[in-house]
Amino acid sequence: MSGISGVKEQDLIRQYGSPLFVYDEHELRQKLQAFTSCFRSETFATRVLYASKAFSCKAMISLAAEYGCGLDVVSGGELYTALRTGFDPSRIWFHGNNKTPAEIRMALDAKVGTFVVDNEMEAEEILAQIKDRDTETDVLLRINPGIEAHTHQYIVTAHVDSKFGFSLLEKDVIFDTAEKLQDSGKVRVRGIHAHIGSQIFDKQAYVELIRKMFSFAKELHDRGIAVTDINLGGGFGAYYTPEDHPVPVKEVCETILQTCEEENERVGGFIRQILIEPGRSIVAEAGYTLYTVGYLKQTPNKTYAFVDGGMSDNIRPALYQAKYEAYLAGKENLPAETDYTIAGKCCESGDILIESIPLPKAEKGDILVMKTTGAYGYSMASHYNKLPLPAVVFVNEGRARTVIERESYEHMTELELQEGKS
Ligand code: LLP
Repeated sequence: MSGISGVKEQDLIRQYGSPLFVYDEHELRQKLQAFTSCFRSETFATRVLYASKAFSCKAMISLAAEYGCGLDVVSGGELYTALRTGFDPSRIWFHGNNKTPAEIRMALDAKVGTFVVDNEMEAEEILAQIKDRDTETDVLLRINPGIEAHTHQYIVTAHVDSKFGFSLLEKDVIFDTAEKLQDSGKVRVRGIHAHIGSQIFDKQAYVELIRKMFSFAKELHDRGIAVTDINLGGGFGAYYTPEDHPVPVKEVCETILQTCEEENERVGGFIRQILIEPGRSIVAEAGYTLYTVGYLKQTPNKTYAFVDGGMSDNIRPALYQAKYEAYLAGKENLPAETDYTIAGKCCESGDILIESIPLPKAEKGDILVMKTTGAYGYSMASHYNKLPLPAVVFVNEGRARTVIERESYEHMTELELQEGKS
């Protein structure tokens, strides 16, 4: 099928303007279905939490809800977006290393199910706020297990200086915090959480993590903290270029659950629920960014194709040297004849979306389609150079619908007060 889920890229640009984020809704549904159907166990209750930081908007959250996912939110803004869709607050896990007092208040008011407590002072803030309420809440303690995994490698060293979580080198702090929370009578310490990195292709990293988590859960259990939940975070890889070999969802889910079963047996069988938090692996491959090619420019060593977006809608190449594949819509069957450097329109030399890609002859007005832009693209977008944020459309079975409107210049400036106000 040519186009995106049967809709021609040219038609999408004609109807919705350029640049444009497009998601293949069928692909999103397949990923949600794969995770929710494969992450099942006879031993444990299981939960897939969609990590909404990868792409948070009302339509995406509704889709996650449709598949029975819980939700990982990391700020008042992500929480607000979820609540506005009517998402069941008891299925929300609130993350973040510096939840502000106002965000904690907002989450308690909304009866968010679980706080993932990142540090000692946050625990104190929650206790101070919950003291005078007639509500209770669940918490997980975020642990820094000393494992860091990215792409092909994981390192088991005590990465003691992470800004996230309680280091396992300071177990006393964790025990004290857990006891304080538990003794309040208002907070149930359900268990522990860890997130070891992103774009992980090595299943062994999860095996290592699970062993550490069960061992530590046992230590908490032995000290009288009734932990039942282990949340293993996200990080599952996606395909961007042929260098990437993501582990199929079914396989990674099986490895995780099987290892959890073995470990639970080893420690005495008190763990009841296992959670994971995929973000990228659900939305990345379903997303495309469509740009219009503007000017072309030849320099002694490069052939540039300039597009009408750039680092403002996709910071990943500039920030992480992330690599992408792309094609020229309607020219898929023509032979590639030139290596192009795809550059954005932002006022910054580093605004290069693709350093070098062989493409058929590009012309002004062509539509360049960048693939796998569904995760951390729109969600990390900025207004640099006052480029308005593109629209986002979902395409399904030949039909498109706008899920985020294109920003206008008026939207971008409506909070600005020319004379200021006091
Ligand atoms: N859970 C927690 C606690 C996390 O911090 C993250 C991502 C996830 C789940 C989801 O991870 P995923 O499945 O998407 O890998 N901006 C970077 C990625 C940062 C990920 C931050 N945390 C990028 O564009 O590559």
